[in-house]
Amino acid sequence: VVASDAMAMLQVTDQYLELHDGEIVILTRESATIKTLDGEVLERAPYTAEIDASDIEKGTYAHYMLKEMDEQPAVIRNIIQHYQNENGDIELTEGVRSLVSEADRIYIVACGTSYHAGLVGKQLIERVAGVPTEVHVASEFGYNMPLLTEKPLFLFISQSGETADSRAVLVEVKKRGYKALTLTNVAGSTLSREANETMLLHAGPEIAVASTKAYTAQIAVLAILAYDIARANGKKLPFDLMTELARIATIMDSVMAQKEIFEQLADKFLKESRNAFFLGRGMDSYVGLEGALKLKEISYIQAEGYPGGELKHGPIALIEDGTPVITLVSQPNTHLNIRGNIKEVVARGAVACTISMEGMEHESDAFVLPRVEPLLTPLVTVLPLQLISYYAALARECDVDKPRNLAKSVTVE
Ligand code: G6P
Repeated sequence: VVASDAMAMLQVTDQYLELHDGEIVILTRESATIKTLDGEVLERAPYTAEIDASDIEKGTYAHYMLKEMDEQPAVIRNIIQHYQNENGDIELTEGVRSLVSEADRIYIVACGTSYHAGLVGKQLIERVAGVPTEVHVASEFGYNMPLLTEKPLFLFISQSGETADSRAVLVEVKKRGYKALTLTNVAGSTLSREANETMLLHAGPEIAVASTKAYTAQIAVLAILAYDIARANGKKLPFDLMTELARIATIMDSVMAQKEIFEQLADKFLKESRNAFFLGRGMDSYVGLEGALKLKEISYIQAEGYPGGELKHGPIALIEDGTPVITLVSQPNTHLNIRGNIKEVVARGAVACTISMEGMEHESDAFVLPRVEPLLTPLVTVLPLQLISYYAALARECDVDKPRNLAKSVTVE
């Protein structure tokens, strides 16, 4: 069997033979022979995929997406375990540490949901570790490379580790002699093999096309990376990360236990809607982008995420009677501004669905989340948006796990 992603074949085998660029494989019933374009036969031993086939069962769940959303608290706990030593301190490999310590700027390259996690990662790395960080969509970076600093480090974020646009950038930066670190969920994936170092997400296989647990795992691992760089640079750490992550896992459990609230919100706001807007500021605006992506991917509702301040520069023209506007209010430094934005859209007929955080809540809010550190709010604010998207797709009778026109790993340009 030939496949572009090992995950697709797990029910058949755990033995894989990787094929590199510029190679030909000749398959017969008995053998697989790999040759170079010049006809030279190459010896390559198969590797064993370290994924348990039982991890890719849906169990009693109606959809993989629901199962994967539910797994998020466990994934966060798993990440804490993998990245801390017996003293409870963050422990990264020497390889990762030396890569990041040499860098004068970090260039995050990713696509889709991983790009949205990268936006959060930039804030974490800059604010906690003080290292300038840029985030780029891989397909754009490949053709419009910005000016680079002297010692750039490329940070690839990819659930599958197979995304062609990201890989094209990796090939190019390696050609130029730069170093790369990959954050991926799949050990042995192309982006992992070809980068200098890998940090794994430990999220378990993600099957649903719409990414959920990989997003929260990426943010948790990016926070751990930011903390490690900060500590190496002698920065004062703003709070105890591992303790806060553990608390967040518990909060995630409590949000996931209240699914019916989000089912009702989806029914009320999105079942019959043609479009929807997601507003937020700072971290909330990045999560809004992810919320809009989730909703459009699986429910086919046209959805746009905007930073609250940009509203008056265009999108407000589209607000009419009944337009759903989903707003996140979790950032203490801008919560009053975003409340102003909510008033502006409501005055034009929008129906507001506001997800806020304790200390910033209003009576009319649809859901109030327990308070978490402002830098880590995306780990919890995204859950209501994932759930609302899921239930909106269900209400509209869409194929949640396999939305039309989309693929899980996009291995072509
Ligand atoms: C596809 C998937 C998205 C994913 C994106 C990037 O478009 O449908 O869910 O975010 O690829 O994938 P990656 O595996 O690189 O994170």
